[in-house]
Amino acid sequence: MSAGQVLISRDEIRARTLALAQEVTLALPPGPVHAVVILKSAIFFGVDLIRALGREASLGFLFASSYGDSAESAGAVALSADALGRVTGQNVLLIDDILDTGNTLAAAAETLRALRPASLRTCVLLDKPSRRQVPFEADHVGFPIEDVFVVGYGMDFGGRFRTLPDIRVYRQEKK
Ligand code: IMP
Ligand code: MG
Repeated sequence: MSAGQVLISRDEIRARTLALAQEVTLALPPGPVHAVVILKSAIFFGVDLIRALGREASLGFLFASSYGDSAESAGAVALSADALGRVTGQNVLLIDDILDTGNTLAAAAETLRALRPASLRTCVLLDKPSRRQVPFEADHVGFPIEDVFVVGYGMDFGGRFRTLPDIRVYRQEKK
């Protein structure tokens, strides 16, 4: 089993993240932002994006786990909000690595909205529009991609490949 060819290189990720950070900063209301990163897979992107925002930011985390095998989202998403921080009345930026079926971000946005933030924007590095099961669009998207399973830069297959610096198409080696 190994990760396949590079889909998005570390240099492309870096350049796009800096541009996205500018775009997000321009769209945010003035003042501090509460950035909420969905763990674990958005950790690398979240850190890089938040550091590039021209804003004072407080940090919160949502831990998402979906049931089913690692390459197919089963639709049900369990969210743990223990480390969410203060959302009520704040300008919140919700950050995820990939918008796939939409189940995770739809559930995360609903959790946050229930806490009545002053505003809520969403930013994802990757978007697979062809995979959507629930209607959800992110306000800011790094790269739209085809229906391929990717690993690296925080994204895993069964817990592996998260620390690869580039985003690669995952492939299962034939035995
Ligand atoms: P959704 O709930 O189906 O939109 O899935 C979102 C989550 O599934 C993302 O935050 C990822 O962690 C994971 N995911 C979706 N597609 C991929 C992929 O191609 N590689 C690795 N993780 C993925
Ligand atoms: Mg994720």
